[in-house]
Amino acid sequence: MRVYDIIKKKRDGGELSTAEIEFFIKGYVDGTIPDYQASALCMAIFYVGMTERETADLTMAMAHSGDTVDLSRFGKDTVDKHSTGGVGDKTTLIVAPIVSSLGCVMAKMSGRGLGHTGGTIDKLESVEGFNTALSPEEFFAQVEKIGVAVVGQTGNLTPADKKLYALRDVTATVDSIPLIASSIMSKKLAAGSHTIVLDVKYGSGAFMKTPETAEELAREMVKIGNNCGRNTSAVITNMERPLGLNIGNALEVKEAIDVLNNRGAEDLKEVCLTLATQIVSLSRGISTAEARALTEDALTSGRALLKFKEWISAQGGNGEWVDNPDLFPKADYTYEVKATCDGYIAKTDAEAMGIASVMLGAGRETKDDLIDMSAGIILNKKTGDFVACGDTLATLYSCNKKAFEGAEKRFLSAIELTAVKPENEALIYKIIQ
Ligand code: URA
Repeated sequence: MRVYDIIKKKRDGGELSTAEIEFFIKGYVDGTIPDYQASALCMAIFYVGMTERETADLTMAMAHSGDTVDLSRFGKDTVDKHSTGGVGDKTTLIVAPIVSSLGCVMAKMSGRGLGHTGGTIDKLESVEGFNTALSPEEFFAQVEKIGVAVVGQTGNLTPADKKLYALRDVTATVDSIPLIASSIMSKKLAAGSHTIVLDVKYGSGAFMKTPETAEELAREMVKIGNNCGRNTSAVITNMERPLGLNIGNALEVKEAIDVLNNRGAEDLKEVCLTLATQIVSLSRGISTAEARALTEDALTSGRALLKFKEWISAQGGNGEWVDNPDLFPKADYTYEVKATCDGYIAKTDAEAMGIASVMLGAGRETKDDLIDMSAGIILNKKTGDFVACGDTLATLYSCNKKAFEGAEKRFLSAIELTAVKPENEALIYKIIQ
């Protein structure tokens, strides 16, 4: 078999066989196929697309390109969630304790912030002492004991995705549905959970800019998961605006604690309850109405909050911070952004707000940057609210005073004011099962 023939076949609109896809993935991982041939094939896939069967084969070849996690000792209770990435997205911090307080087992790997989007691992590390690099023995022992553990991606899991993702990032081939679907699902399959719920985001802060393309991606991933014997569903959610009110690592953990105390932003609570309901319903085989009642009860009874504290403490974090969030690191400086005229907020562009938060120190501009855990933004107003000239739109937090000028400009570029109250946008577009 020659990789040249595989590239040519795809370029000319052909359908690759299982053997050809396996040959490509094996050769790319062991280095016999160079980057330039892999990029040519990615570009051909970007233009020509892949059939369902090809996408499934690509996913399986990538999932088996390295180690896989064996969670079989936990039976069929293992659950996982995946968000395609957004701004203010702290849902894992809330969903994990809700579902594990209900007996689901969440043994999960999460990522760090990427570009303008935040990452669960960075957020968890804002809690003093929290260890995101447990050894496999510590990881399994904790899951066994309390039903939840979240660590960074470790070991030799899906090396094909690691290589291909980095290549796609620099060859303008990220936003291809078969390539995204296989990238995400290969990692989820290798991570071993029986139930997988995907939060597929659309809008300015997401990879998929429209609900229609998000739906196409969601359907592809759900099909792959179900065909591989995993209970899979996808919730398509709005990322035109940030989720909740807080953006930035410590600020987001504090907001998650607020929701677990049954307070906090309604949009954030609703997305979390919807995701948790899907997880509980699929893993237990019960109706969504029953699962919703259970997840709401876990939240309002305080059981999810107790589980959160248990989880934080088990992973070495200071559990007192959960009871007293004032202990989280505080930024040296704050700055209030004011409205410059009257009007209704018609738009709060999530991507621009994510970038403003990175400029304040909450994310990395380069791979090796250190994060300012206290940095970020708390929104005072959201899309649909009326503001009068001089009202505070948001407070910016940073240990670098010089960052405020640029971040304020970027923040204001995200806001659009109109004279007429805008229509309410749907928060949950669709659920695909
Ligand atoms: N997230 C991933 O893990 N892979 C992609 O290709 C896009 C988003």
